[in-house]
Amino acid sequence: MRRGNGKRARVGARAGAGGSTRLSYDARMLLSDHDVQRLRRAIALARKGRFQVEPNPPVGCVIEQGEAGIVGESWHGAFGGPHAEVGALALAGDAARGATAYISLAPCGVDGKTPPCADALVRAGVARVIYAAGDPNPAEGGAGLARLEAAGVEVVAAQGALRGEGEALLERFRGSLASRRPWVALKWAMSLDGRIAPRRGVGGAISGGRAHGLVHDWRGHADAVAVGVETALADDPRLTCRRQAGLPAGRAQPLRVVFDGSLRLPVDSRLVAGAGESGLLVFTTARADAARRRQLEERGVRIVEVSGVEGRVDLAAALAHLHAEGVRRVLAEGGARIHGALLRQGLADQVSAFISPMLLGGEDAVPAVEGSGIGSMDDALRLEDVAWRGLGTDLLMQGYVPRGS
Ligand SMILES: NC(=O)c1ccc[n+]([C@@H]2O[C@H](COP(=O)([O-])OP(=O)(O)OC[C@H]3O[C@@H](n4cnc5c(N)ncnc54)[C@H](OP(=O)(O)O)[C@@H]3O)[C@@H](O)[C@H]2O)c1
Repeated sequence: MRRGNGKRARVGARAGAGGSTRLSYDARMLLSDHDVQRLRRAIALARKGRFQVEPNPPVGCVIEQGEAGIVGESWHGAFGGPHAEVGALALAGDAARGATAYISLAPCGVDGKTPPCADALVRAGVARVIYAAGDPNPAEGGAGLARLEAAGVEVVAAQGALRGEGEALLERFRGSLASRRPWVALKWAMSLDGRIAPRRGVGGAISGGRAHGLVHDWRGHADAVAVGVETALADDPRLTCRRQAGLPAGRAQPLRVVFDGSLRLPVDSRLVAGAGESGLLVFTTARADAARRRQLEERGVRIVEVSGVEGRVDLAAALAHLHAEGVRRVLAEGGARIHGALLRQGLADQVSAFISPMLLGGEDAVPAVEGSGIGSMDDALRLEDVAWRGLGTDLLMQGYVPRGS
């Protein structure tokens, strides 16, 4: 097996079940510079899943087979999608037998949306697993590591700085484990002058085809897609996933959600028309008209009352309700008032903004985020860990909302 320059750094220790380390040092327990480099590659791959996988942790995996070198590598690329180990093993095929798997996170050992990765590694005949960070998920415990060790796989946990690099990837995962609401990803398309519509109540596309394709992909990997009632009125959206390739494997259409304090959602809207097929949940308040409620319910719309301050839908209560229903990732697609309210209440986790080279201008154009505003630049909400890329003539900028803001 290729071992780089053979120099060994004291950064590894053999892992016990549960991710704890046994403090007995022998040469086998230490990682070579080559191992460290490969594990760093797994961590870099994991970062490619940022913004797509939360509230899951981003994970990367590299499989190396002796002189053949890297025979498979992959990362967890989408919430509800295949895990990094599964993708890397599929690429490696038979070459995984006797190979070393470098993984940014200890492989899972419990059945979740996908079968345990530890079992897949054992089945593929991997001889050695080197991982950066232990799994903080209490449901996971050390089950994956125990399964690997029971099957005779050598398991090595990185220590020190490398472990820290792996754990840094888990910051948001840890936060979401503690929270009783879903991960909320805000998404909007805006003109270069920061407007999402020429005036309130007027819809229409701002971004181009590649951005739209990506949004359908995101919908396919979200448990729910949510909008405010003004967006439902202006755009008459369906909010379904209509990817060219169809729904992602193993995924269902997302639950569609509308925040609508007085049930203004039209009975003949496209959202209501699709209620039977894809599910439609409307959060409302005591302001809702009983007859209107009956009309919507007769068409298969689920209506839940969560009255908050100033007669508004209580967004925190709505999200807690969704969480209790098993919804873990919500794509919030506007509009400005809903985004403003979610951000103001600390209920948003990430922002994805498509920026298009057009100017809408004018005082009536709708800004991307509404609310009472801030007093000075010092109070601006600055996104963290920001990434951007071009999509045709559009730009996609993404960042995390700092916790506690
Ligand atoms: N370019 C884009 O990406 C994009 C995306 C979405 C929308 N848009 C455009 O944006 C415009 C709509 O945006 P908008 O800001 O006017 O409306 P919105 O955010 O879609 O909906 C706001 C409405 O939601 C209801 N609501 C329920 N609970 C709320 C709460 N806790 N906080 C705030 N609102 C709550 C309120 O109506 P009730 O008081 O009746 O409950 C409120 O007026 C449209 O022109 C649409 O085309 C553009």
